[in-house]
Amino acid sequence: MKITVIGACNVGATVADCIARKDMVDEVVMVDIVEGMPQGKALDLAQSASVHLFDTKVTGTNDYADTAGSDICVITAGLPRKPGMTRDDLLAKNASIVRSVTEQFVRHSPESILIIVSNPLDVMTYVAYTTSSFHSSKVVGMAGVLDTARYRAFIKMNLGVSVRDIQATLMGGHGDTMVPLPRFTTVAGIPLTNLMPAEDIDAIVERTKFGGGEIVKLMGTSAWYAPGAAASEMCEAIVKDSGRVLPCAAYVDGQYGLNDLFIGVPAKLGRNGVEKIIELDLTDDETRLLHESAEHVRTNVARLEAIEAGS
Ligand SMILES: NC(=O)c1ccc[n+]([C@@H]2O[C@H](COP(=O)([O-])OP(=O)(O)OC[C@H]3O[C@@H](n4cnc5c(N)ncnc54)[C@H](O)[C@@H]3O)[C@@H](O)[C@H]2O)c1
Repeated sequence: MKITVIGACNVGATVADCIARKDMVDEVVMVDIVEGMPQGKALDLAQSASVHLFDTKVTGTNDYADTAGSDICVITAGLPRKPGMTRDDLLAKNASIVRSVTEQFVRHSPESILIIVSNPLDVMTYVAYTTSSFHSSKVVGMAGVLDTARYRAFIKMNLGVSVRDIQATLMGGHGDTMVPLPRFTTVAGIPLTNLMPAEDIDAIVERTKFGGGEIVKLMGTSAWYAPGAAASEMCEAIVKDSGRVLPCAAYVDGQYGLNDLFIGVPAKLGRNGVEKIIELDLTDDETRLLHESAEHVRTNVARLEAIEAGS
């Protein structure tokens, strides 16, 4: 199997690194618009193989012909946030980048599965979907795996338990309107609500919502270790056809009363991409938050369409 990663800087190179270390595919190809950089990073990563003990071939290129026949493509090309910016501020610029890289990639790999990472995530996943004309199950966005990873990390910090035992899901758009679901969070099967006072849970939920911004404020740019690891976990579920249920930005077609948009939902991932969306029995309050989050995504899609119609 072959995986292409488009955008070979912070998140992209980390995705390639994580994929290579899993030693699960024949080749990982990094593509970037900057000449020499993906080739140099590929060489560096390839030289880590004897330490990490993987046989995956790592290459770098500026030419999409080298990506031909990819089974999966992870799109990380685009601008990251700077302090004071929201993900939505990246809308028009990243849409033109995501559209351009998707067009070039799908010409050479028409049977691939696309995993989008570029922000604003839910809209960029929609852009890749419309540009590629792929079936909606073959296009998916990475946000929920990262957001739950952050949530689980904060639970671990509070309770001092192993992350291995923390199970969680969340829904909604990637951003401040995400919908964490403490009701569906357990530690070794024990509901979180039995283990932590409500005010601690509320504080963790708030920190998770703004978890990306916390890092942007500290570093001046957005995170890459956890995002890269999260995207590689989705690749692994597809490569191994494992049927893992992960929170992903998937295309909804009536589920949760939502239509024609990509939004965070629990999804079963396998060789065919998104194989099933799991419908949880949400409370009225959770449903309201999910619909508000969906409205935010819709507004951004409309904003993008208006910007593009005017340009
Ligand atoms: N979904 C998530 O949870 C999540 C998490 C972190 C970052 N992100 C997003 O991922 C994107 C990448 O973040 P980063 O920190 O790696 O940024 P970065 O600036 O480190 O890397 C982006 C790379 O994209 C490349 N690029 C730009 N235009 C291109 C084009 N037309 N063709 C090919 N490559 C192109 C750049 O040259 C650069 O190397 C940003 O939009 C960021 O907001 C999303």
